[in-house]
Amino acid sequence: MIKEEDAIELLNSYNQTHIVNLLKKLDEVKKQELLEQIDKIDFGQIMELYDNTKKEIEIKENKIEAIGYLDKAKLTKEQKEEFDKLGEEVIRNGEYAVVTMAGGQGTRLGHNGPKGTFKLDVYGKGKYLFEILVDNLQEANQKYNTIIPWYIMTSIENNKDTVEFLEKHNYFGYPKENVIIFTQSELPLVDVDGKLLISKDLKIKEASDGNGGTYSSLRASGSLADMKERGIKWVFIGGVDNVLLKMADVTLLGMAIKKNVQIASKSVVKANPHEKVGVFCKMNGHPKVIEYAELPEKMAEEVDENGELKYGESHIMCNLYTIDAIEKASKEILMYHSAFKKNSYIDEDGKEVIPTEPNSYKFESFIFDAFEFFDDIAILRGKREDDFAPVKNKEGVDSPKTAKELYEKYWNRQEKN
Ligand code: UTP
Repeated sequence: MIKEEDAIELLNSYNQTHIVNLLKKLDEVKKQELLEQIDKIDFGQIMELYDNTKKEIEIKENKIEAIGYLDKAKLTKEQKEEFDKLGEEVIRNGEYAVVTMAGGQGTRLGHNGPKGTFKLDVYGKGKYLFEILVDNLQEANQKYNTIIPWYIMTSIENNKDTVEFLEKHNYFGYPKENVIIFTQSELPLVDVDGKLLISKDLKIKEASDGNGGTYSSLRASGSLADMKERGIKWVFIGGVDNVLLKMADVTLLGMAIKKNVQIASKSVVKANPHEKVGVFCKMNGHPKVIEYAELPEKMAEEVDENGELKYGESHIMCNLYTIDAIEKASKEILMYHSAFKKNSYIDEDGKEVIPTEPNSYKFESFIFDAFEFFDDIAILRGKREDDFAPVKNKEGVDSPKTAKELYEKYWNRQEKN
């Protein structure tokens, strides 16, 4: 492990004098813990990521084209039946697994605890986000007479609270031996001056490094090996916070099988040309999700011969992969993006600061950045009112209020049918 004097030299060379001061003040046990952490952090990488936040995003010369998709509502009866049959077979055979990405910080929602432990005020009694996911999986289990293995990705920060919560609620009735919880990796948080934040336990404050970490964490945690042992052939990966997420959509799965692709995704059409969502396209011949900020205005408004937005298929974290695709993605290096977020920290006087405005950069890789490593993707357009009700913000768009409305409307419609 790194010696104290070497750590001090390293920290000084990266202008982290506040950590040097902290190190000198700590008792022996805490000092060793911090040295151990310093030893593992790649300061060069973090400072490069921080420096990148000051640079303009480089838009390279890329060939962007619209991507093909099928609209679920417009499939012929025969097409749908064929897809459903193919998909159903895989699930019935026990060859299907689901991953929930629950390692996010949920800073915009501001809920005290992992996002999955947030209770959405539906039907008077309320339902936790994890409970809503279990409902969806149990419905599929019943329908296809199977038990889908459920992998939950947590962060080092929220793992303990997540496990305790699920234990306390007895996994909402999900057979525990089929719930596998694994943890993703982290990166330090950096303030606007390039200083690493300090956490309450007097260490360098780190946070999960984005949902793009799912692939490598599946492999590093042994979950991928576990899937292979169980004979899994297809893996669904979704977020924790969309209360209309369909994790076992046989039409999507069957379509992927029929099209003989390694990855597939459910989209919903953009609410308007300027909605702040990432959209699917082909870049240099490969599937890609292009962020709203990177899509030129003219392209955002472009329509095809049917009057539909050419770049209108939003990515809603509803993705499907063959097990080989997961393996492949787990070995690729994904780029990091930076997000400016609110993070509490301990200041030089040892006081906790809880910011009311974003104060620090979090570096994250994105799950969709792996798409470009594949030749093709099958996209199925779903319906916003059936497939997409995210809980992101405390108020306004994509908030508990909008998600509750969409959730209740959806289930009222199901009861009527
Ligand atoms: P978001 O990017 O919306 O982030 O995550 P978030 O943490 O939920 O919320 P904010 O931005 O801090 O307000 C989309 C999905 O990816 C997961 C989240 O848990 C959510 O299911 N995620 C995100 C991870 O699993 N790990 C991460 O590092 C980031």
